[in-house]
Amino acid sequence: MSEPLVEVKDLRVQFDVREGIIKAVDGATFEVKRGQTLGVIGESGCGKSVTARAILNMVPRPGKVVGGEILYHRRTRSNGTEITETINILDLDPDGEEIRQIRGGEIAMIFQEPMSSLTPVYTAGTHIMEAVTLHRLIPVRKIGNQMVETIRAHRHVSKEEAREIAIEMLRRVGIPNPAERVDSYPHQLSGGQRQRVMIAIALSCQPQMLIADEPTTALDVSIEAQILDLMRELQEETNMAIMFITHNLGVVAEMAQEIAVMYLGKVVERADVVTIFYEPKHPYTQALLKSIPRLGKKGRERLASIKGMVPDPFHLPTGCLFHPRCPEFMPGKCDRIEPGWTRVGDDHWVRCLLYEE
Ligand SMILES: Nc1ncnc2c1ncn2[C@@H]1O[C@H](COP(=O)(O)OP(=O)(O)OP(=O)(O)O)[C@@H](O)[C@H]1O
Ligand SMILES: [Mg+2]
Repeated sequence: MSEPLVEVKDLRVQFDVREGIIKAVDGATFEVKRGQTLGVIGESGCGKSVTARAILNMVPRPGKVVGGEILYHRRTRSNGTEITETINILDLDPDGEEIRQIRGGEIAMIFQEPMSSLTPVYTAGTHIMEAVTLHRLIPVRKIGNQMVETIRAHRHVSKEEAREIAIEMLRRVGIPNPAERVDSYPHQLSGGQRQRVMIAIALSCQPQMLIADEPTTALDVSIEAQILDLMRELQEETNMAIMFITHNLGVVAEMAQEIAVMYLGKVVERADVVTIFYEPKHPYTQALLKSIPRLGKKGRERLASIKGMVPDPFHLPTGCLFHPRCPEFMPGKCDRIEPGWTRVGDDHWVRCLLYEE
């Protein structure tokens, strides 16, 4: 049993918009263990990306964390002894020194929407670290220089060593002629190559945890397979933990040891991957698994939709949020009582009244 590196406890994030309040994350609880991969799945809009950003204390405006804890068990070595200290990431100043060291260095993230990974607005004052923390490449600077600066911000290596690391990592993500391409500008690369550069940057800082938010959706299948292999290799080499967000259940089955299933801002079921695939307990998880036509075959198709509509965030149902779409709906119960966590197996947890006493 591997120990937790990051524990997310009852995380709540809201967006206060003109039409009202969106509870984007409203009770996300899970842990990511050292050296292991947690897969996070759920329909579009259920709060996966907002949860991921909260772990780096970078919820996009006008979002606000309104509850919960994100405990990061940082392990450092000093004079040959290992020390573990626990930091609640949500207590850190979002612009402070400590979170900047964690972001990118200790916990790295590969963002969704790779095609936009050029800084939308570049001004002469744009600082390289800001850009890279936001996982954007600065258009007017060579990718190698951007990589070297990021690597050196987080690892004690010389410029020359950092350049070697950059070239090696570009090679490992499948950029042809990396020793030459390292001196190209972002616009000289294709969108897919830029995404691979972003992946290379994230991995070259040897993070303790990688958050990968649909990292390979825009890449073609053979490159995707290569990147997934690379992530697993680095995980073995450095005991890196991975939080892997995807719509592709084939990929999640291949990558993850544990799964968290999200619905409308809540984690509704969590267990190891085999249990989730073969003994899902929550009717939502069951529907999600049924909604892909050919499970097991590594398809690129996204999850087909489940019967019924995801409710409008301003008019959420009472009781269990899934009850209007649930085939097991129990009138008078599911529409009244909000389910809590029930343990249904060894480390298998579900939020559903079918299993509550
Ligand atoms: N900047 C924002 N302003 C207002 N609402 C937002 C903002 N960002 C996200 N949300 C809302 O928060 C909720 C969760 O969004 P999130 O992006 O985390 O979903 P997701 O699970 O990552 O979806 P997808 O699978 O499509 O990437 C959604 O209802 C979304 O509309
Ligand atoms: Mg998302």
